[in-house]
Amino acid sequence: MRGIVLAGGKGTRLYPMTKAISKQLLPIYDKPLIYYPISVLLLAGIREILIISTPEDIDDYECLLGDGSKLGVKFQYGVQEKPRGLAEAFIIGEKFIGTDKVCLVLGDNVFFGQDLTKVLLNAQKQEHGATIFGYPVKDASAFGVVEFDENNNVLSIEEKPKKPKSNFAVPGLYFYDNDVIKIAQNVEPSTRGELEITSVNNAYLERGDLKVALMGRGMAWLDTGTPEGMLKAAEFVEAVQSRQGFYIACLEEIAWRRGFIDNEQLQSIGNGLKMTAYGKYVLSLLDEVRA
Ligand code: DAU
Repeated sequence: MRGIVLAGGKGTRLYPMTKAISKQLLPIYDKPLIYYPISVLLLAGIREILIISTPEDIDDYECLLGDGSKLGVKFQYGVQEKPRGLAEAFIIGEKFIGTDKVCLVLGDNVFFGQDLTKVLLNAQKQEHGATIFGYPVKDASAFGVVEFDENNNVLSIEEKPKKPKSNFAVPGLYFYDNDVIKIAQNVEPSTRGELEITSVNNAYLERGDLKVALMGRGMAWLDTGTPEGMLKAAEFVEAVQSRQGFYIACLEEIAWRRGFIDNEQLQSIGNGLKMTAYGKYVLSLLDEVRA
């Protein structure tokens, strides 16, 4: 399975912070925002990843992440000329996806929770159709909203409805079979002029091929769309990391635990960062092997 991180957009809702810097490069506590969605792909065992951003920002992402070899993965880069909608990711990524399945994660979505890996691996195993997620929120009207019956059969999915039919928002994480490329190519722009991911999901729903997996109480899906959201997300990450001693979205740790890199490679990354708490954490992981 291939992974795509969509990290474009103008970030206008965060101006002036994002006037000169891409939103997904801003920090959430001790690491750039994009580390969090990338960590989700790595946890799902995905090692071929396409990062999509604007013509102005794409070089910055490449500067940050490189070709991925240090993490035992492969990063490629794609450009979205204009923010024409989330579904354009599959058109830009057509060649990259090839004949494979694909997972799309939005570059500003932060997930954390005990069952996350289980949930991801289940969705990843799916051979046909699409899997989206449902996350309960107080007011779902700012999101894609999924309605489903008692057997979790999807009944409807709507983009930012004024009157949501359920309180389950659809987070920016989607798993698709290869048909998504053709489906995205045939999506019509919405009234706001975008190729909506919700239109793609509706196409799967019409075929009877859309599944929803629910994210429960133990899962955090954090909003980074406003300065308050970013601050709260940063506080959350700081609280978990300092209390538990485990880092959230430490890419090097995940790559090492997944066996993408070995002890020596981890040591060398840690040595390069050892002036920071992040680097010390990376190095401390090797104590597990010594113990
Ligand atoms: O966060 C989950 C929500 O994301 C879903 O519930 C919605 O169904 C989905 O449409 C999307 O809604 P948003 O209003 O949050 O989408 P937004 O336009 O803010 O874009 C999300 C991220 O994707 C943002 O960081 C910018 C980036 N983006 C967006 C567009 C439209 C791109 O890179 N390219 C684009 O063309």
